[in-house]
Amino acid sequence: MTATAAVVLAAGQGTRMRSEMPKVLHPLAGRPMLDHVLAALAAAGIEEQVVVTGHGADQVEAALDGRVATVRQEPQRGTADAVRAGLAALGPDVQRVVVAMGDAPLLPAEIFADLLQAQADGETCIALLSFIPTDPSGYGRIVRGPDGLVQAIVEEGDADEATRALGEANAGTYAFDAGWLRARIGSVPVSASGEQYLTDLVASAVTAGERVAVLVADRPELAMGINDRIGLAGAERILRLQIAERHMRNGVTIVDPATTFIDAGVEIGPDARIEPFSIISGASGVGTGAVIGPQTQIRASRIGPRSVVWSSVVEESVVGEDVEIGPYSHIRPGCEIGPRCRIGNFAELKQTRLGAETQVHHFSYLGDADVGERVNIGAGSITANFDGAVKHRTIIGEGAFIGVDTMLRAPISIGPGARTGAGAVVTRDVPAGETVVGMPARRISIKRRTDA
Ligand code: UD1
Ligand code: CA
Repeated sequence: MTATAAVVLAAGQGTRMRSEMPKVLHPLAGRPMLDHVLAALAAAGIEEQVVVTGHGADQVEAALDGRVATVRQEPQRGTADAVRAGLAALGPDVQRVVVAMGDAPLLPAEIFADLLQAQADGETCIALLSFIPTDPSGYGRIVRGPDGLVQAIVEEGDADEATRALGEANAGTYAFDAGWLRARIGSVPVSASGEQYLTDLVASAVTAGERVAVLVADRPELAMGINDRIGLAGAERILRLQIAERHMRNGVTIVDPATTFIDAGVEIGPDARIEPFSIISGASGVGTGAVIGPQTQIRASRIGPRSVVWSSVVEESVVGEDVEIGPYSHIRPGCEIGPRCRIGNFAELKQTRLGAETQVHHFSYLGDADVGERVNIGAGSITANFDGAVKHRTIIGEGAFIGVDTMLRAPISIGPGARTGAGAVVTRDVPAGETVVGMPARRISIKRRTDA
């Protein structure tokens, strides 16, 4: 098997983005566009990858965090110069090189595999990817001879009117014979713009009597390079739809894919239903049969099977099965919600664990709380967990009943089965089974009604 490696170009400035952030780090479906390129290459079986960094190299390298090799191109003297830098970082046994652009994040793995196939089948030094965009302006144009064979790629800036009128554009993705590329890459001429264009290799190959293979992308919208924020939004739209379609094929109902935003890494079980105006982002998971939305945001959280979250926000939390959340509730980071709990309306939870079947209703706040099973948190109840300097914990035992408008001044512990009266301000621990009332709440003895 011939060793194949990829050089991914990511050193350019990306001026047209008008951004402090390097272009290739701008996120698409929740991950940097560069990550989509690397993932597609890996899916095509190309494990050896090197990313050429330059502009914003520190930021790009930090984002890659050692997941893939990088090499710096300094200064940035064009795409041929970038490939030269990348090649120098590859092992000597590499026989075929895929060159990919860090700003073309929609290309599927099959395209890279097909290009390698075209290069091998044709025994050519270059197999390049072309496409027919709706508007080719900005792209290098593919110039073909009367025999239909490619003769050159002419960059827009160097193109005369006739060449500009050509509709076939260069996608910037290639499969090269590594030996041929190594021999040629150093001698690419400097263009009028002062850059060395990788695309000039095509004409020099043809002049030297080599054959150049061309693969025309059958879905041109996937070959586009992102140069500005308009391109970024266009790519986002395409990627979102692809993600939604993948989930729908797996048995997830997405009522309106156009108003549903699901990040690339999200997992959703079959028969889940995603209602309109919902956003599921980060490393989130949604269980079988769950209902998300309408108008719900789930970020870096897991939602259990058959749970329902509507018009609410859940962040960095784990929600068990058959839970109901919403409308208008906010589960902030660090929560663990047990099975069959019910939360809402207007409940806020933070760093809080709820045991099974606990209910947190109407205008309540639980922060830094550990709540047992089958607890009822009455309307308007809150944990006063912050003393101005430090956060304190609240512990509520199983089966406790927190009456409406109770204030629990943390640190505090409410024993299992204990009860608080309406409007109680609880400043001292309440033993199991006791009832407290008033402000500050004091213990009283009441005759318990014995249930029949
Ligand atoms: C390039 C191609 C063009 C093609 C288009 C497809 C060249 C000369 N032109 O044009 O034929 O139609 O892509 O999208 O190759 N980069 C470096 N170092 C550099 C310069 C660029 O790493 O010195 C990287 C950029 O970060 C980017 C990629 O190479 O990821 C392409 O550079 P860009 O300036 O966007 O080239 P285009 O003008 O789009
Ligand atoms: Ca580009």
